[in-house]
Amino acid sequence: MNLVALNEIAERLVTPGRGILAADESTGTIKKRFDAIGVESTETSRRDWRELLLRASEGMRHFISGVILYEETLYQDGANGTPLVELIAAAGALPGIKVDKGTRPLSNFSSETITEGLDGLAERLARAFERGARFAKWRAAFTIGDGLPTSGAIKANAQDLARYAAICQNAGIVPVVEPEVLMDGPHDIHCCDEVTRQVLAAVFQALFEQRVALEGMVLKPNMILCGESCQRRPTVDEVAHRTISAFKAVVPAAVPGVAFLSGGQSDEDATARLNAINRRGGLPWKMTFSFGRALQAAPLKTWSGRSENTAAAQQAFVHRARMNSLASLGQWTSTLERVG
Ligand code: 13P
Repeated sequence: MNLVALNEIAERLVTPGRGILAADESTGTIKKRFDAIGVESTETSRRDWRELLLRASEGMRHFISGVILYEETLYQDGANGTPLVELIAAAGALPGIKVDKGTRPLSNFSSETITEGLDGLAERLARAFERGARFAKWRAAFTIGDGLPTSGAIKANAQDLARYAAICQNAGIVPVVEPEVLMDGPHDIHCCDEVTRQVLAAVFQALFEQRVALEGMVLKPNMILCGESCQRRPTVDEVAHRTISAFKAVVPAAVPGVAFLSGGQSDEDATARLNAINRRGGLPWKMTFSFGRALQAAPLKTWSGRSENTAAAQQAFVHRARMNSLASLGQWTSTLERVG
């Protein structure tokens, strides 16, 4: 394992002022997003959408450190025959690949899931590396509910995240480790705090046991939030305070950076909370974004599948990327949202 090279890639991904564009929706997930704007999901429409983002060169060059791709996109060419990975490289960003195969019901656990995809992973990573990928992503999901998540489901998922991370590092690929505690449900912020600490502690224990070099990885967690249907909404500062306190307790300082998922937060909430986290300062890790929806929702709606909307959609994407770039520096203010 070349730890120096892995560490350089990890540090590059979390460079202050930049973050990751998560454009790795599975075929099923992107269909849902396209359904919402009345666009049929085909190989061509998926390519057109992703090419539009990657060709938003001002945003890509200044604010994006890496792009997570679905396997289809990694091997796809743009409309004029240019491989899409080349557009990412030309913008000075790193291509990455989602390598998990999604969640499946966990046997013997009635409503919990396990993420699949370890079979043949080393071979898939070797091919992805050849195509230019330098980092990967694997997402495990945890639902908060009555007695959930169970320690059995936490341990099984933590173990597989750690096995994935070890296999990645041996392939020269930086693992983005994503244990997501979902926002679904009425739970309060205390509950999310407690569960997120348990999950992260189990993940780092498993990473340690599998001898994963923390200097050569990036953590992609949820922020500490209340459930979607919880009545008591925390303030931006409470989210920042609790997120930092929880991470200080369970995330080792050797991890170069944390790149948050947006997880269904509104665009502006995700940005404001990331900003508040960075304003507090004095953290051992870089704190940035690895957003899917919070970077793509606005431009996707603007695009709505029409080529005449391309420039406006690119502008909407660049705007969100710039807002999140400022938030990664703790320099965002809500007034900037309104000044173009
Ligand atoms: P969201 O930011 O939409 O949660 O997506 C991030 C991601 O990569 C989920 O796996």
